[in-house]
Amino acid sequence: MSIPAPEASAMDLALVSPIEHAQITLDERSPLKLGLMASGTGSNFVAIADAIAQHRLAAQIQLLIYNNPEAPVVEHAQERNIPAHLLNHRHFSQRETFDQEIVTLLQAADVEWVVMVGWMRRVTPVLIDAFPDRIINIHPSLLPSFPGIRAIEQALDHGVKISGCTVHLVRLEVDSGPILIQAAVPVYPDDTPARLHRRIQTQEHRIIIQAIAQIAEHHRLQNLLIP
Ligand code: GRF
Repeated sequence: MSIPAPEASAMDLALVSPIEHAQITLDERSPLKLGLMASGTGSNFVAIADAIAQHRLAAQIQLLIYNNPEAPVVEHAQERNIPAHLLNHRHFSQRETFDQEIVTLLQAADVEWVVMVGWMRRVTPVLIDAFPDRIINIHPSLLPSFPGIRAIEQALDHGVKISGCTVHLVRLEVDSGPILIQAAVPVYPDDTPARLHRRIQTQEHRIIIQAIAQIAEHHRLQNLLIP
Protein backbone atom coordinates (compact mmCIF):
# COMPACT_ATOMS: atom_id res chain seq x y z
CA MET A 1 0.00 0.00 0.00
CA SER A 2 1.38 3.38 -0.86
CA ILE A 3 1.07 6.01 1.83
CA PRO A 4 0.80 9.55 0.49
CA ALA A 5 3.34 11.71 2.24
CA PRO A 6 3.39 15.49 2.50
CA GLU A 7 6.25 17.31 0.82
CA ALA A 8 6.98 19.20 4.04
CA SER A 9 8.20 16.05 5.77
CA ALA A 10 11.24 16.02 3.47
CA MET A 11 12.93 18.23 6.05
CA ASP A 12 12.47 15.51 8.66
CA LEU A 13 15.17 13.50 6.98
CA ALA A 14 17.53 16.34 6.24
CA LEU A 15 20.86 15.06 7.48
CA VAL A 16 23.73 17.46 7.31
CA SER A 17 27.32 17.45 8.29
CA PRO A 18 27.88 18.68 11.88
CA ILE A 19 30.09 21.43 10.49
CA GLU A 20 26.91 23.10 9.24
CA HIS A 21 26.19 24.10 12.80
CA ALA A 22 29.56 25.76 13.29
CA GLN A 23 29.45 29.49 13.84
CA ILE A 24 29.99 31.28 10.54
CA THR A 25 31.12 34.89 10.67
CA LEU A 26 29.54 37.03 7.99
CA ASP A 27 32.26 39.42 6.91
CA GLU A 28 31.09 41.39 3.91
CA ARG A 29 34.20 43.58 3.81
CA SER A 30 36.05 40.99 1.71
CA PRO A 31 33.42 38.91 -0.10
CA LEU A 32 34.54 35.68 -1.70
CA LYS A 33 34.71 36.25 -5.44
CA LEU A 34 32.75 33.54 -7.22
CA GLY A 35 32.53 32.37 -10.80
CA LEU A 36 29.37 30.37 -11.46
CA MET A 37 28.98 27.87 -14.28
CA ALA A 38 25.56 26.63 -15.35
CA SER A 39 23.80 24.97 -18.27
CA GLY A 40 20.13 25.06 -17.37
CA THR A 41 17.35 26.43 -15.24
CA GLY A 42 19.41 28.23 -12.64
CA SER A 43 17.50 27.68 -9.42
CA ASN A 44 20.78 27.16 -7.55
CA PHE A 45 22.15 30.30 -9.17
CA VAL A 46 19.11 32.19 -7.87
CA ALA A 47 19.52 30.70 -4.39
CA ILE A 48 23.14 31.90 -4.23
CA ALA A 49 22.47 35.32 -5.74
CA ASP A 50 19.54 35.94 -3.40
CA ALA A 51 21.50 34.81 -0.33
CA ILE A 52 24.18 37.36 -1.24
CA ALA A 53 21.64 40.11 -1.90
CA GLN A 54 19.97 39.38 1.45
CA HIS A 55 23.34 39.56 3.28
CA ARG A 56 23.24 35.88 4.25
CA LEU A 57 26.41 35.07 2.32
CA ALA A 58 29.67 37.06 2.22
CA ALA A 59 30.33 36.47 -1.44
CA GLN A 60 30.03 38.18 -4.78
CA ILE A 61 29.23 36.65 -8.18
CA GLN A 62 31.85 38.06 -10.52
CA LEU A 63 30.61 36.19 -13.56
CA LEU A 64 28.19 33.54 -14.80
CA ILE A 65 29.41 31.31 -17.61
CA TYR A 66 26.73 29.34 -19.42
CA ASN A 67 27.17 27.02 -22.38
CA ASN A 68 23.62 26.61 -23.65
CA PRO A 69 22.16 29.59 -25.54
CA GLU A 70 18.66 28.52 -24.43
CA ALA A 71 19.54 28.24 -20.73
CA PRO A 72 17.00 30.14 -18.59
CA VAL A 73 19.75 30.86 -16.06
CA VAL A 74 20.90 33.83 -18.14
CA GLU A 75 17.62 35.65 -17.50
CA HIS A 76 18.15 35.34 -13.75
CA ALA A 77 21.61 36.89 -14.16
CA GLN A 78 20.34 39.73 -16.33
CA GLU A 79 17.54 40.54 -13.87
CA ARG A 80 20.19 40.90 -11.16
CA ASN A 81 22.77 42.77 -13.26
CA ILE A 82 25.27 39.93 -12.89
CA PRO A 83 27.66 39.66 -15.86
CA ALA A 84 26.85 36.56 -17.92
CA HIS A 85 28.96 35.11 -20.69
CA LEU A 86 27.78 32.52 -23.19
CA LEU A 87 30.45 30.01 -24.20
CA ASN A 88 28.87 27.53 -26.56
CA HIS A 89 30.80 24.25 -26.36
CA ARG A 90 29.59 23.40 -29.89
CA HIS A 91 31.91 26.09 -31.20
CA PHE A 92 34.97 24.29 -29.84
CA SER A 93 36.47 21.16 -31.37
CA GLN A 94 38.32 20.13 -28.18
CA ARG A 95 37.32 20.10 -24.53
CA GLU A 96 40.70 21.56 -23.58
CA THR A 97 40.34 24.68 -25.71
CA PHE A 98 36.82 25.16 -24.39
CA ASP A 99 38.11 24.89 -20.82
CA GLN A 100 40.99 27.25 -21.60
CA GLU A 101 38.49 29.88 -22.68
CA ILE A 102 36.59 29.35 -19.43
CA VAL A 103 39.79 29.79 -17.42
CA THR A 104 40.64 32.98 -19.29
CA LEU A 105 37.21 34.44 -18.52
CA LEU A 106 37.27 33.40 -14.86
CA GLN A 107 40.75 34.80 -14.32
CA ALA A 108 39.92 38.05 -16.10
CA ALA A 109 36.95 38.40 -13.74
CA ASP A 110 39.26 37.91 -10.74
CA VAL A 111 37.39 34.77 -9.62
CA GLU A 112 38.68 33.03 -6.48
CA TRP A 113 36.31 30.03 -6.32
CA VAL A 114 34.31 28.33 -9.05
CA VAL A 115 30.83 26.96 -8.38
CA MET A 116 29.22 24.54 -10.83
CA VAL A 117 25.46 24.73 -10.51
CA GLY A 118 24.10 22.37 -13.12
CA TRP A 119 27.14 22.48 -15.44
CA MET A 120 26.52 19.60 -17.82
CA ARG A 121 30.01 19.27 -19.33
CA ARG A 122 32.95 17.09 -18.38
CA VAL A 123 35.98 19.07 -17.30
CA THR A 124 39.64 18.68 -18.25
CA PRO A 125 42.89 19.27 -16.33
CA VAL A 126 43.04 22.70 -17.95
CA LEU A 127 40.23 23.93 -15.70
CA ILE A 128 41.06 21.80 -12.65
CA ASP A 129 44.72 22.87 -12.60
CA ALA A 130 43.87 26.57 -12.97
CA PHE A 131 41.73 26.44 -9.79
CA PRO A 132 43.25 23.64 -7.70
CA ASP A 133 40.82 22.56 -4.95
CA ARG A 134 38.79 25.67 -5.68
CA ILE A 135 35.97 24.25 -7.78
CA ILE A 136 32.79 22.84 -6.24
CA ASN A 137 29.82 21.10 -7.81
CA ILE A 138 26.32 20.21 -6.67
CA HIS A 139 24.91 16.83 -7.61
CA PRO A 140 21.38 15.46 -7.08
CA SER A 141 22.25 12.21 -5.30
CA LEU A 142 24.00 11.00 -2.20
CA LEU A 143 27.40 10.39 -3.76
CA PRO A 144 29.12 8.05 -4.29
CA SER A 145 25.76 6.57 -5.31
CA PHE A 146 24.49 7.54 -8.76
CA PRO A 147 27.18 9.80 -10.23
CA GLY A 148 26.75 11.20 -13.73
CA ILE A 149 23.61 12.16 -15.60
CA ARG A 150 20.14 10.81 -14.81
CA ALA A 151 21.06 10.44 -11.12
CA ILE A 152 17.44 10.86 -10.05
CA GLU A 153 16.09 8.32 -12.53
CA GLN A 154 18.81 5.87 -11.45
CA ALA A 155 17.86 6.31 -7.80
CA LEU A 156 14.19 5.64 -8.59
CA ASP A 157 15.08 2.63 -10.77
CA HIS A 158 17.06 1.15 -7.87
CA GLY A 159 14.15 1.67 -5.50
CA VAL A 160 16.18 3.60 -2.93
CA LYS A 161 14.16 4.88 0.02
CA ILE A 162 16.46 7.80 0.77
CA SER A 163 18.11 10.08 -1.74
CA GLY A 164 19.54 13.58 -1.52
CA CYS A 165 22.22 15.88 -2.79
CA THR A 166 25.94 16.44 -2.43
CA VAL A 167 28.29 19.39 -2.66
CA HIS A 168 31.80 18.19 -3.47
CA LEU A 169 35.15 19.38 -4.76
CA VAL A 170 35.55 18.76 -8.47
CA ARG A 171 38.02 16.17 -9.73
CA LEU A 172 38.61 14.85 -13.24
CA GLU A 173 36.35 11.86 -12.82
CA VAL A 174 32.70 12.92 -12.94
CA ASP A 175 31.12 13.57 -9.49
CA SER A 176 34.06 11.94 -7.70
CA GLY A 177 35.73 14.60 -5.52
CA PRO A 178 35.85 14.94 -1.73
CA ILE A 179 32.41 15.48 -0.23
CA LEU A 180 31.81 18.78 1.60
CA ILE A 181 28.11 18.62 2.57
CA GLN A 182 25.21 16.27 1.94
CA ALA A 183 21.51 16.42 2.71
CA ALA A 184 19.06 13.52 2.56
CA VAL A 185 15.41 13.41 1.55
CA PRO A 186 12.92 10.54 1.61
CA VAL A 187 11.83 8.83 -1.59
CA TYR A 188 8.11 7.99 -1.71
CA PRO A 189 6.54 5.09 -3.61
CA ASP A 190 4.61 7.35 -5.95
CA ASP A 191 7.53 9.66 -6.73
CA THR A 192 8.19 10.76 -10.29
CA PRO A 193 11.64 12.08 -11.29
CA ALA A 194 10.26 15.61 -11.33
CA ARG A 195 8.68 15.28 -7.89
CA LEU A 196 11.81 13.80 -6.33
CA HIS A 197 13.98 16.41 -8.04
CA ARG A 198 11.87 19.22 -6.54
CA ARG A 199 12.32 17.73 -3.06
CA ILE A 200 16.07 17.36 -3.61
CA GLN A 201 16.39 20.89 -4.95
CA THR A 202 14.90 22.36 -1.79
CA GLN A 203 17.89 20.87 0.00
CA GLU A 204 20.34 21.81 -2.77
CA HIS A 205 19.47 25.47 -2.37
CA ARG A 206 20.28 25.21 1.32
CA ILE A 207 23.53 23.22 1.22
CA ILE A 208 25.12 25.06 -1.71
CA ILE A 209 24.86 28.27 0.33
CA GLN A 210 26.16 26.50 3.40
CA ALA A 211 29.15 25.16 1.48
CA ILE A 212 30.01 28.57 0.06
CA ALA A 213 29.63 30.14 3.52
CA GLN A 214 32.11 27.66 4.96
CA ILE A 215 34.55 28.26 2.13
CA ALA A 216 34.20 32.04 2.52
CA GLU A 217 34.91 31.76 6.22
CA HIS A 218 37.93 29.53 5.62
CA HIS A 219 39.18 31.97 3.00
CA ARG A 220 38.71 34.91 5.38
CA LEU A 221 40.66 33.19 8.15
CA GLN A 222 43.47 32.26 5.75
CA ASN A 223 43.74 35.88 4.62
CA LEU A 224 43.98 36.99 8.24
CA LEU A 225 46.92 34.65 8.79
CA ILE A 226 48.87 35.83 5.75
CA PRO A 227 51.12 38.71 6.91
C1 GRF B 1 20.71 20.44 -9.95
O1 GRF B 1 19.78 19.46 -9.57
C2 GRF B 1 22.11 19.97 -9.72
O2 GRF B 1 22.23 19.05 -8.70
C3 GRF B 1 22.46 19.32 -11.02
O3 GRF B 1 21.84 20.12 -12.00
C4 GRF B 1 20.68 20.70 -11.43
C5 GRF B 1 20.71 22.18 -11.73
O4 GRF B 1 19.52 22.78 -11.36
N1 GRF B 1 23.90 19.22 -11.19
P1 GRF B 1 19.32 24.34 -11.47
O5 GRF B 1 19.67 24.73 -12.91
O6 GRF B 1 20.22 25.00 -10.49
O7 GRF B 1 17.88 24.57 -11.18
